[in-house]
Amino acid sequence: MVEPGMTPTTPARPDGPVPPAPARSGGLGAAMMRRKPVERLIAEGGQGEGGRLKRSLGMWQLTMISIGATLGTGIFVVLGEAVPLAGPAVVLSFVAAGLTALFSALSYAELAGTIPVSGSSYSYAYATMGELIAWICGWCLVLEYAVSVAAVAVGWGKYLNELLSGTIGVTIPGWMANPPGAGGVINLPALLVVVLAMGFLLGGARESARANTIMVLVKVASLILFCAVAFTGIRAGNYKPFMPLGLGGVSAGGAKLFFSYIGFDAASTAGEEAKNAKRDMPRAIMLSLFVVTALYCLVALVAVGAMPWKKFADADAALAQIMKDVTGQSFWSVLLAAGAVIAIASVVLTVMYGQTRILFSMARDGLVPKLFARVSPKSGIPVANTLIVSAFCGVLAAVVPLGALADATSIGTLFAFALVNAAVIVLRKTRPDMPRSFKVAFSPVTPAIGFALCLLLMGSFELITWECFIGWMAIGLVVYFTYGMRRSQLAREARTEK
Ligand code: ALA
Repeated sequence: MVEPGMTPTTPARPDGPVPPAPARSGGLGAAMMRRKPVERLIAEGGQGEGGRLKRSLGMWQLTMISIGATLGTGIFVVLGEAVPLAGPAVVLSFVAAGLTALFSALSYAELAGTIPVSGSSYSYAYATMGELIAWICGWCLVLEYAVSVAAVAVGWGKYLNELLSGTIGVTIPGWMANPPGAGGVINLPALLVVVLAMGFLLGGARESARANTIMVLVKVASLILFCAVAFTGIRAGNYKPFMPLGLGGVSAGGAKLFFSYIGFDAASTAGEEAKNAKRDMPRAIMLSLFVVTALYCLVALVAVGAMPWKKFADADAALAQIMKDVTGQSFWSVLLAAGAVIAIASVVLTVMYGQTRILFSMARDGLVPKLFARVSPKSGIPVANTLIVSAFCGVLAAVVPLGALADATSIGTLFAFALVNAAVIVLRKTRPDMPRSFKVAFSPVTPAIGFALCLLLMGSFELITWECFIGWMAIGLVVYFTYGMRRSQLAREARTEK
């Protein structure tokens, strides 16, 4: 079946000729509305400039990529910032943020199984809502991925300091462990973890996935260890009052903690390197979300039971602090800090991976320079892309404070998620007969709820976060109208056909 307003496309074979773009010419509006046929998106899968990405990832690795990208600073650091907002009811904040994530995860799972490419929501939007919306989505994904890497790298520095002081009694001097504006000159640890991740990524997707799997196992084990130890320190009184700051506090905590769920969609950036993308990506997305939600709720419940909620405001590395307070020995907190250092490093690795693959897709479509789609024919790695993304994330991590970054990341991600929910509804309408390896139940109601929840959570951010977001979007629109719109592959093809 062919989408309304489009010319028919040749049926796609992964190794066959790429079907031509739909001949949509006309004014500015038509240009912004041009859509890329699903068959063509799939047919181009893996193909870069000068080489192809390698298909090397199975279901286990894909799940590990999503868990790897999700579980990190949110639980180890941002939890400490959310408790002062919600009190012990921070557990409910996790549930609220998790529910928002769940609805969107269902939509991601459906689209990842239907359009298994590397561009994630950017590609889904291109197939359903047109180029301008796809660009906006891709621009938001830079917030979700590249900017969040920087935020996460900053959190890594905090636990590295905790680890160093606990083991060798040395802490990194403030001026080189904090960005300007937060009492320092440069955040060197944050820069270091970005450089380490870059090293893995240049080694290949398979090698990065292997390193990530080990790191994920370590971080899950660290959180289980935390629960076991901190459980012994739970005092019933710490849960009272449970909701000292009311429902408003729970919702503000939920908005802050949404950051901790970002990343469950990372598997959807591996569509062109997955061995059986249609089958495995939906499963990986759902499974990872269930694992992290269960862990988050458990850790939060134990944490607020073991430490009075008001004390969280002063703790830099809250979970390590709890371990120390409960056991009276620094050994446990050092062990947890070591787990956190590894945990957060894996977020940096997988999220940077995701960013490179999204830009890869956007470059293939001509919306960002082709350089991002250049693949080394020998190694199958987008080398220039990886270097540029690492440089961008490294600089940001070294000079911008975490709080501002985490909130900007969340609002951008929520917007991208809202678009994914909308894309499910659109694709069901325009391509009802497409084979779908996973289907959201009760569509369009379920994705519509997912869409509404995303907008609702966006509404609970502070004005300053909105200002950053609007500023970011304005820059994005300028880039699109001055660069992407003219250079887009579909635009070129439409011009040649005239
Ligand atoms: N969800 C990721 C983290 O919490 C971004 O570190």
